[in-house]
Amino acid sequence: MDSSLPLVLTRDGSGPLHLQLAEQFRAAIRDGRLQAGHRLPSTRDLSTELSVSRSVAQAAYDQLHAEGWIAGRTGSGTYVADVVPLQPVRRPRARPAEPAGKKLLTLRPGIPYVGPTVDAGWRRAWREVSTRPPSPGYEHPAGLPELRTALAEHVGRVRGISCGPENLMITNGTMHGLQLLLTVHGTAGERLAIEDPGFVSAVTTARHNGLEVVDIPVDEDGLVVSALDPDLAAVYVTPSHQYPLGGRLPVARRNELIRWARRTGATLIEDDYDSEFRYDVAPLPALAQLDLDRVVHLGTLSKVISPALRLGWLVASADVVDQLSAYREEAGDWPAWPMQAAFLAMLRDGYLDQVIRRSKRLYAERRNHTCKVLAPHGQIVGQDAGLHITLLLPNSLDDRAVAAQARAAGVAIAPLSDYRRTTPGPPGLVIGYATPSTEDLHAALQILVRVLGDVPTDR
Ligand SMILES: Cc1ncc(COP(=O)(O)O)c(C=O)c1O
Repeated sequence: MDSSLPLVLTRDGSGPLHLQLAEQFRAAIRDGRLQAGHRLPSTRDLSTELSVSRSVAQAAYDQLHAEGWIAGRTGSGTYVADVVPLQPVRRPRARPAEPAGKKLLTLRPGIPYVGPTVDAGWRRAWREVSTRPPSPGYEHPAGLPELRTALAEHVGRVRGISCGPENLMITNGTMHGLQLLLTVHGTAGERLAIEDPGFVSAVTTARHNGLEVVDIPVDEDGLVVSALDPDLAAVYVTPSHQYPLGGRLPVARRNELIRWARRTGATLIEDDYDSEFRYDVAPLPALAQLDLDRVVHLGTLSKVISPALRLGWLVASADVVDQLSAYREEAGDWPAWPMQAAFLAMLRDGYLDQVIRRSKRLYAERRNHTCKVLAPHGQIVGQDAGLHITLLLPNSLDDRAVAAQARAAGVAIAPLSDYRRTTPGPPGLVIGYATPSTEDLHAALQILVRVLGDVPTDR
């Protein structure tokens, strides 16, 4: 019998003949031209029909068999299978395509400036890694002991947290730290408080772990501690620069939070994502500095060097680090050696301190410029620290509509409403000033000012 399909094989570089053949059968089954139960030609007939060797037809059938498209045995014929394999779902693009030819500037928060030049310190660290053979085994699930020792010294010096290597675990970033914690210590149905507005990824991670997220309001100083109820298993908090409104939790409120946690037995998860950057204000004690028995502190390189490194750390009591280590060992979740070795070199060499010093100078200038340009357009909050400010807008404005207008004009920006869950508050824009070049930042702000000047308000 013939295949009754218009099969065309080419020898013009379109790939091996058996793969071309298999794909044409696959396409015919997919779009219904060949139905379940339809008998296919024998490999002998097919090869004659197509003037190819029988091994080509056989290889195509073997492939289709292995993938589940066809069934049958030698002697009894080959049929289109009853169970047609699942097709990969073509998802709609998560983000709308940008208009071709137009550069989209970004004022979205969260990503540091990564310049085009390669620093000597960066090069030195990787050179050092590249001249050593890789670690022969899996090493320690909490991370390289020398790195944990160096990092304990670092967080002691810059964050005042008195700890040793036994209190430190290397992670793939803040969210990995939270995920580990919830996997090992979170119980489905438990209640985890998160600031509202707050960090969307923390909410997503908690919900995916089966926890109930409790929305806690924030004011200009940060988390409203008096809004916490005693039935919470844990609180996720950004005390050094509330995300995204930018409040810095005053010492009295930090103490109140620690007292509340001691009373209720809840764990405080301190997300210390951008505390390296403070402008003209004194440092405040990390929560972990106040009580390492109640606090798990999450640090990251994402805001200092780049989120692409996927490197962070978790500081906690030695018991918690041991429990997480035992889990990681069993689950096979080991920190990658090259990044750890390079980070160790960066710490020892003073490269990390150098990047922080340099970035702080750059961001301070950019922050000043951003505040000056945007001050006439709303109330600026959160400007004392970090890599972003938030511009609160008049209540009559829809911040998502403003963000859409800004995007259409060539600037990506995050509306404050995207961070809010149930606690009401004014509209606003969360404006990151770190990511673009200084030139692009100035251009983006000019566009934003034009957009804000164009939107009608009731003021
Ligand atoms: C509030 C907050 N915490 C932490 C992070 C960093 O997460 P990670 O260390 O997993 O990159 C971000 C990044 O956007 C953030 O906004």
